[in-house]
Amino acid sequence: MSIISDNNDFKSEKSLHKGNKNPVIKPETIEADKNFENSIRPKSFDAYIGQTALKETLKITIEAAKKREQPLDHLLFYGPPGLGKTTLAGVIAEQMGVNIKITSAPALERPRDIIGILMSLKGGEILFIDEIHRLNKVAEEILYPAMEDFYLDMTTGKSQTVKTLRIPLPKFTLIGATTKAGELSGPLRDRFGIIHRLEFYTEDELAQVIKRTAGILNIEITEEGAHAIARRSRGTPRIANRLIKRVSDFALVKHDGKITEDVANESLDILKIDTFGLDTTDRCLLRLIIEKYDGGPVGVETIAAAIGEDVRTIEDVCEPYLLQAGLLQRTPRGRKVSPAAYRHLGIIDMDINDQKSLF
Ligand SMILES: Nc1ncnc2c1ncn2[C@@H]1O[C@H](COP(=O)(O)OP(=O)(O)O)[C@@H](O)[C@H]1O
Ligand SMILES: [Mg+2]
Repeated sequence: MSIISDNNDFKSEKSLHKGNKNPVIKPETIEADKNFENSIRPKSFDAYIGQTALKETLKITIEAAKKREQPLDHLLFYGPPGLGKTTLAGVIAEQMGVNIKITSAPALERPRDIIGILMSLKGGEILFIDEIHRLNKVAEEILYPAMEDFYLDMTTGKSQTVKTLRIPLPKFTLIGATTKAGELSGPLRDRFGIIHRLEFYTEDELAQVIKRTAGILNIEITEEGAHAIARRSRGTPRIANRLIKRVSDFALVKHDGKITEDVANESLDILKIDTFGLDTTDRCLLRLIIEKYDGGPVGVETIAAAIGEDVRTIEDVCEPYLLQAGLLQRTPRGRKVSPAAYRHLGIIDMDINDQKSLF
C-alpha cells in the first residue's frame, strides 16, 4: 500500500513524541497535581457532573442503605484514569455521612499493611482501595472474610503451637477502583455487591466541568472557550482541568487573561494537542500502524517497542480513548486503525484512491 501524508510522517512524529514527554494530557495523576485536584474535587452529587445513570443508581442505593441503617454494599468502580472514580468515592462518603480512608493496592504490600488498615476501621466507615487489581494474593485472602463476614483470621505461634484467632471487624464498606477490571481475580470481583463502569464525558459535560473549575480558580472564560477546551480533553475531566490551567496561563501572558475560543485554540495548538485531543504519543501510535503495518492488525507489544512506550501505558492510557473515538479497533490478531484515523491524520490511502479511479 502506498501512502501520501500531507504534513508529518511516523519518523517526525516519533521524534516529537520522544522530545515531548509533556504530561499535560496524560490522564494519570501527576504529583504536582495532587493539591490542585483536591481543591477542585466535587464533594456532592450536585457538583459531580455527568455519569447520570450511575449517579441515579447510587443515590437510590445510598438512600436504601440509610433507611436500613446498614453500611453500603461493597462497590467496585472501573474505567480509564481521570474519569472520577476517587472523586465519586468521596461523594458517596459525604452522602452517607461517614469517614473515608483512602489507600491504594501498592501501599498494601505486607500482610500487616492491610490488617492494620482493616483494624483501624470504625463501624460504617468506607475503605477506598485504588488500583485494586494490583493487590497481592496474600492481601486478597485477608480481604475475603473481611469483606464477606467482617472478620480477620490471624495465626499466632509457630508450627505445633499455631493458633488461629478470629477477630471481628466492624461493618464497613469497601470501595475499589481499577483501570483494569479484567485483571481482578474472580473471587475478589465476586465479593463486590455493586460493580460500575465510568464512561468518558461528552463535550457538554466537560464544558460544565471546565466552567466549574474556572469559577473556583477565578478564571474568566466564555462558553465557546469552555467548549474549545472540552473538545480536546479526551472525554476526561482530569485532562480538562489540567488544560484550563495551561490555557489560562497562556491567556494571561499573551492576551488579557480571558479565555475565548480563539485563545483556547491557539494555546492548545501550541501544546500540540489536536482537535481530537490526541497528543504526539497517540498520533505516533496511529502513524506507526498505518505506515509500517499497512493499517494493522499489529500486536500491542510491537507497537510499544516501536514507539518506546510501555505496554501498560498504551493499554490503559492511550487505547481506551482511541477506541472510543473510533480511531482504533481491537481485533483478535492485534490493533487496527480505522478509516477515520487516516482522515484525521490527513493521510490518503492510495489503495482506496486507486480503486476509486477504476470506476
Ligand atoms: N464528574 C465530575 N465532575 C467534576 N469534576 C470531576 C468529575 N470527575 C472527575 N472530576 C475531576 O477530575 C479529577 C480526576 O478525578 P479522579 O476522581 O481523581 O479520577 P480517577 O480516580 O478516576 O482517576 C479530579 O480533580 C476531579 O476534580
Ligand atoms: Mg483515582
